[in-house]
Amino acid sequence: MNDLRLGVIGLGVRGDLADLAHRPGAGSRVVACCDVDPKALSGVSDRFGPGVETTTDHRELLSAGLDGVLVLTPDHTHERIALDFLSGRVPVFLEKPMAITTAGCDRLLAAAQAAGTRLYVGHNMRHMPVVKAMRRLIDAGAIGQVKAIWCRHFVGHGGDFYFKDWHADRRNTTGLLLQKGAHDLDVIHWLAGGYSRLVTGMGGLVVYGDIQSRRDRTGERMTDWLAPELNWPPLQQRDLNPVVDVEDLSMMQMRLDNGVFASYQQCHFTPDYWRNYTVIGTEGRIENFGDAGDVTIKIWNRRSDYHADADDSVQLQAAPGSHGGADPRLIEEFLDFVRRGGTTVTSPVAAREAVAAGYAATQSLRSGGLPVEIPPPDPAVAAYFDNGQR
Ligand SMILES: NC(=O)c1ccc[n+]([C@@H]2O[C@H](COP(=O)([O-])OP(=O)(O)OC[C@H]3O[C@@H](n4cnc5c(N)ncnc54)[C@H](O)[C@@H]3O)[C@@H](O)[C@H]2O)c1
Repeated sequence: MNDLRLGVIGLGVRGDLADLAHRPGAGSRVVACCDVDPKALSGVSDRFGPGVETTTDHRELLSAGLDGVLVLTPDHTHERIALDFLSGRVPVFLEKPMAITTAGCDRLLAAAQAAGTRLYVGHNMRHMPVVKAMRRLIDAGAIGQVKAIWCRHFVGHGGDFYFKDWHADRRNTTGLLLQKGAHDLDVIHWLAGGYSRLVTGMGGLVVYGDIQSRRDRTGERMTDWLAPELNWPPLQQRDLNPVVDVEDLSMMQMRLDNGVFASYQQCHFTPDYWRNYTVIGTEGRIENFGDAGDVTIKIWNRRSDYHADADDSVQLQAAPGSHGGADPRLIEEFLDFVRRGGTTVTSPVAAREAVAAGYAATQSLRSGGLPVEIPPPDPAVAAYFDNGQR
């Protein structure tokens, strides 16, 4: 088996995925790297071998004979870069969120179908043990038929990560409800078995907007400045991004196309960093405690007052690899998809629906909480992806 020849666009924090995909002699190797910042390219021959091609313009890699490309750049660049490779017939791994607007996602789906080029969107949470276990339990009938899902997302490192670089500027992300929420909105849809069609949102910039200290960190990486232990409580944060116009507290409610109701809350100034899902069905409720390391999932089926031990529980041990062991599985699935095609655990249509929910909720919260309807994707396009892009 010849190694797949892979290109990588964007060698920032998520550049770690390229290391997972670089398996010379074992099926895939990184042969080309692109980053607009020449500094990011300086160590690539040590990392991927002396022959690796480098460029600051991704379009130069359209004719590099690549079997696939990993697009790991900031959110607002996803659409342009992925469209170029899809029309150039190079299979694409695209980081989440797929794009920063619903229309942008629809353009990507249409382009992939028109060119017949394989598109994979990196929703790694579908490979997280906690999410997989909750879905397995729900599918096995542990709580009856799902009726409600509530997700609380405590983004404890919010001020350290997202308010110190490009994420804080809505031109790059639309907002954090979409940019961070795309993960959880996809999980909510996956656990519910449906997609949001009506949403409302509320929220604002309630803490970090009060901090005047600003610094432009262009060319730096989050890992260069991350020191959460120095920055507590949150108003101690210094050197935020020059533009901070995204919300640090947001809440949304959803009505799904299968009658499930859901809510999602995201806060960027909590002391702890994790997500908690509560799923309520016709015969019980399930909830996770911890998400990436050691995790307990509890299931309540009998009536009681407060009952911390629950009626049943499942313990999960920390798996090796980043994001609770999800990232190695994500890359494994992408490489297999490049070779064989077909359906995958992640789904480009679901990725579009996660963005659509986050985008509509952001519109809602910026217009006083008015309900916003979400148009479904073109059914012919959705069917093409549901059938494994054949
Ligand atoms: N799935 C996950 O768990 C997860 C986690 C973190 C980030 N992400 C996503 O990964 C993407 C990258 O995030 P990050 O934290 O690595 O960002 P980062 O800022 O650390 O790195 C981005 C890199 O892309 C480069 N870049 C910017 N524009 C470019 C362009 N047009 N062409 C080539 N290179 C370009 C930058 O110079 C930088 O080196 C984002 O879309 C983010 O939402 C996903």
